[in-house]
Formats: sequence, structure tokens, C-alpha cells
Amino acid sequence: MYDIKVDQFGHTFDCAEDETILEAALRNRVFLRYGCKHGGCGTCKVQLVDGDVELTASSYSLPPGERDGGTILVCQSYPVDDCVLDVAAMNLDEEEFFKGDGTAPGRPCWSRWRRSPTTSAGGAAPPEGAMPFIAGQFVNVEVPGHGAPRSYSMANGSADDDRIELICKILPGGLFSAYLDEQAKPGDEVVVNGPYGLMAIRLSHRDLVMVAGGSGLARCWPCSPTWPARAPTGR
Ligand SMILES: Cc1cc2nc3c(=O)[nH]c(=O)nc-3n(C[C@H](O)[C@H](O)[C@H](O)COP(=O)(O)OP(=O)(O)OC[C@H]3O[C@@H](n4cnc5c(N)ncnc54)[C@H](O)[C@@H]3O)c2cc1C
Ligand code: FES
Repeated sequence: MYDIKVDQFGHTFDCAEDETILEAALRNRVFLRYGCKHGGCGTCKVQLVDGDVELTASSYSLPPGERDGGTILVCQSYPVDDCVLDVAAMNLDEEEFFKGDGTAPGRPCWSRWRRSPTTSAGGAAPPEGAMPFIAGQFVNVEVPGHGAPRSYSMANGSADDDRIELICKILPGGLFSAYLDEQAKPGDEVVVNGPYGLMAIRLSHRDLVMVAGGSGLARCWPCSPTWPARAPTGR
């Protein structure tokens, strides 16, 4: 066991060698901001002030320059020493930190996956009970049979909060991609956690130009208020 001290709040919790700092924080009922839990979104970046950690190979949202400057992703960091963290970048207040993880447990959803001609799949999953979200947020879907989380942005707007629509690009060799490609069928149950993320469109009198391609379309699509009118053109 190692001691993990969070500088801002003068609080120390324990973390096992085979546990990420994020897992240990949540187990110890304190909150550190997170999103995808698998190294993809960068939400859980903090500064390592003292000590050392081993980062997993999937820390792809942490460029080498940032790592050299002492930034770590707590969802991908296993301590190899007692550590001191500066979590200022998470912009947490004391109440949020000590309240622990307020995220609701995963909700089982019935899914209706359909494959499009362009190697992507769309899914609609009506949760049992609405999951309110705002355009630009994402959910973590647990890969059936594995439990590993994968993040997908809602492709529908908050007005449709009785269901969640996702656009998932199929990547060769990917875990969730393989499930979509080879196994997914209408009515499968998937567990969805969220919503997460703070991206939103700020109101402005200026024109908005949104540039997106591939799976990035999912996030921009519901943020564009005029999209429904333009959808038939496909532009
Ligand atoms: C906030 C957020 C929102 C997102 N929104 C969307 C969205 O709306 N739509 C979307 O399609 N995606 C989205 N993503 C990406 C998505 O979460 C997944 O990363 C993506 O779908 C791949 O998941 P997977 O399980 O299919 O592949 P993974 O299993 O994660 O693998 C990804 C790729 O890495 C390769 N790979 C895996 N392991 C290894 C290894 N050991 N060595 C070498 N290569 C390896 C695989 O072959 C594959 O090509 C989002 C990500 C984030 C962080
Ligand atoms: S929670 Fe997404 S990178 Fe750590």
C-alpha cells in the first residue's frame, strides 16, 4: 500500500500496487474528476508533485512533454512510491472532493445496433428511466463480457433524453468494435454510465463553424441547432 496525498485538501488515502490512483480515490470515497477511465479523454490529469507512478500503455491522451513536466492521468497511474498530487487543474471544491463519486451506477439499456455502409454503427439505447444530458456530453459503455469502459458521445440532443444515440466507428482489432462487428444484435443489454463531459456551445451572436470528421461528428451533430434542417443534404 502507498499513501496518496492530495495537496489542496490536506487529505491522504491509501492505494494498492495493483490499483490505479483513481480507483483508490473512489474506493476511499473521495472524488477526483474523471471521464472515460481508459486514458482517452484527459479529464483526470493532475500534477504529480512528489513520488512516482507507472503509467499504462494506454495513456494516449498524455503527450510525452506533459508527462515529463509531471502531469499524470490518475485513471492510468499505478503508484510505485508514496505520492503527493496537485489537483488544481480539476477545479474541485472541498465539498465535491469529500462527497465522493456522485455518479449513478451503470444503467442497463436495451440497444438497437445497426450497421451503416460506412464501417460505423449507430445504436439507440433507451435507459430504464431517463438519463438527462446536454448536447456535447458522452457516456461510458461497458464492453459486454469484459466490463471495460469505452466512451461515446451522444449523437442526439438533450431534448431526446429518454434515449441515447451513439455513432461508433469500427476500428479493426478494437474490443468494443469487435463486439459491434461480430456479436451485437437488437435487444442486447449494455451497461451505460454517465453522462460525463463539460463540452457545450456558448451562446454567441457570431456564426459558428464546426469542423468534424469520422466519429467526431457524433459530438458536433447535436450541438448544431440548425442541423435537423440540414440533415437531408448530408452536408
Ligand atoms: C470523450 C470521448 C468520446 C468519444 N466519442 C466517440 C464517439 O462518439 N464515437 C466513436 O466511434 N468513438 C468515440 N470515442 C473513442 C472510443 O471511446 C473508443 O476509444 C473507440 O471506439 C475504440 O474502442 P474499441 O474498444 O473498439 O478499441 P480499443 O480496444 O480501445 O482499441 C483501439 C485501437 O487500438 C488498437 N489496439 C488495442 N490494443 C492494442 C495493443 N495492445 N497494441 C496495439 N494496438 C492496440 C486496436 O486494434 C484498435 O485499432 C470517444 C473517446 C472519448 C475519450
Ligand atoms: S478519465 Fe479519461 S483519461 Fe483518465
